[in-house]
Amino acid sequence: MPNCNCEKPLVPCTVEVIDIVDETPDIKSFYVKNENGVPFDIKPGQCAMVSHIPVGEGMFSCTWQEENEYLQFAIKRTGLLTDELHTIEIGQKLGVRGPYGNGFPVDQCKGKDMLFIAGGIGLAPLRSFIKYCFKHREDYGKIQILYGSRSAADLCFKAELFDLWPQIKDTEVFTTIDNAEEGWDGHVGFVPSYLEEINPDPAGKIAVTCGPPIMIKFVIKALEKMGYSDEQVITTLEMRMKCGIGKCGRCNIGSEFICLDGPVFNLAQLKKLPPEW
Ligand code: FES
Repeated sequence: MPNCNCEKPLVPCTVEVIDIVDETPDIKSFYVKNENGVPFDIKPGQCAMVSHIPVGEGMFSCTWQEENEYLQFAIKRTGLLTDELHTIEIGQKLGVRGPYGNGFPVDQCKGKDMLFIAGGIGLAPLRSFIKYCFKHREDYGKIQILYGSRSAADLCFKAELFDLWPQIKDTEVFTTIDNAEEGWDGHVGFVPSYLEEINPDPAGKIAVTCGPPIMIKFVIKALEKMGYSDEQVITTLEMRMKCGIGKCGRCNIGSEFICLDGPVFNLAQLKKLPPEW
């Protein structure tokens, strides 16, 4: 593992921003590396702490990259730290430490058809798992991706969604936006109702969802109505990850610490927690 800080998990590694991509009006992707490439290995669904001195630091999902040449974070503007991060330029330095969290159960899902359901910035953590499935395409069955956002401009990763992923064998991509707008001739409507229209058969399938909490709740209801069992539904509560090491007490639901036990859970595990998620 290159230049890993596992023995000193609170000490960030310095990385350089090597590329920045405007994904939407309020989401940018930051590509970072140090002289060794990636400062630590990361699995799909894991997070890392990004520090921007002197503003502060925050936990973000980090996209697994098959090449291990850089780490990528898709960061939405939501406050002081993210506003400042959106002002940085290529060549500037950031700190990163990690990885944190359990990540997606990529091995347990082998041999299954995969259904990914995301809303807004929720596609960022799922994209790690999607890219992993495409890298190991022979290990997974049919792949369906349902993704929605408020408007066409708010759809992330457009090149992959519209050009790359639909070309991959046994893959279907469904996109939707909340309200009709000029120039959009695709589906209009919320993700959970589009999911019910598509009505994907639960046989042999694992559904993985991430997005706004209200979307997740209605997606889960729709999946249950379609006959998905609690073990067939996986989500990530990565938005609750703060310190990532069980110290700040800001992520717990009942007695469970999301950062220590998650952030990835299946529905059977979540139903054992108080209904605060
Ligand atoms: S994120 Fe701080 S205790 Fe879990």
